[in-house]
Amino acid sequence: MTIITIAIDGFSSCGKSTLAKALAQKLHYNYIDTGAMYRCVTLYALRHGFIDKKQNIEERKLITVLPMINVDFIFNAHKKTSETYLNGENVEHEIRGMEVSNNVSKVSAIHEVREKMVALQREMGKNKAVVLDGRDIGTNVFPNAELKIFMTADNDIRARRRMDEYTAHGQFFTLEEVKLNLHKRDYADSHRKENPLTRAKDAIILDNTDLTKEEQLEFVLKLIADMQLTKDRVE
Ligand code: DC
Repeated sequence: MTIITIAIDGFSSCGKSTLAKALAQKLHYNYIDTGAMYRCVTLYALRHGFIDKKQNIEERKLITVLPMINVDFIFNAHKKTSETYLNGENVEHEIRGMEVSNNVSKVSAIHEVREKMVALQREMGKNKAVVLDGRDIGTNVFPNAELKIFMTADNDIRARRRMDEYTAHGQFFTLEEVKLNLHKRDYADSHRKENPLTRAKDAIILDNTDLTKEEQLEFVLKLIADMQLTKDRVE
């Protein structure tokens, strides 16, 4: 079986990470949650007072401390998935909170932040056998990825899934609050100057509105099996 790079891009809360984790587990690939990396930078900025209540960011200060921000993924054998570490601290839970979600789009639009994160992502994925999810993986980080998926789903379904996730973690928001956050992020992520969210021309669209987790995994595994067959026939 040829080792490949799998790029999964799409809107917020479409189930990208669920699919990416399942694929990584099934194929014994590494999983790189690129959104978690931008969330770490945002958490760092919040903790150091670089973002005020009105969501104004002290960009210069943040850019100056970027060399001090280290993001790692460490595999948790018990949970069978990798977790996000910011400067050695497990922040997997904290980076998913609403405060980070409300500020991450602005932080991720800063040129120097993207430059650093993209370089890290390319380094982490350079040996292939990797699944990355994000917004610009197929268009910018790994434009030569062998398999590109662009995920989408109905807005209400996405908001409800995200609200259920918050609730499961003891954070309570109305459906409207969650919808507003998703809408604002999608708009900002798709309209920023640098590497906005857009479908790579060769990405396969996966609308999972009516699919279960198992069905979406099957769909992608079949794509990979078909790719392999085609490759074997050509060689
Ligand atoms: O996938 P996520 O919702 O955890 O991502 C959080 C934010 O990070 C998202 O709103 C935009 C930004 N992001 C990005 O700009 N580029 C990526 N490759 C991944 C995420």
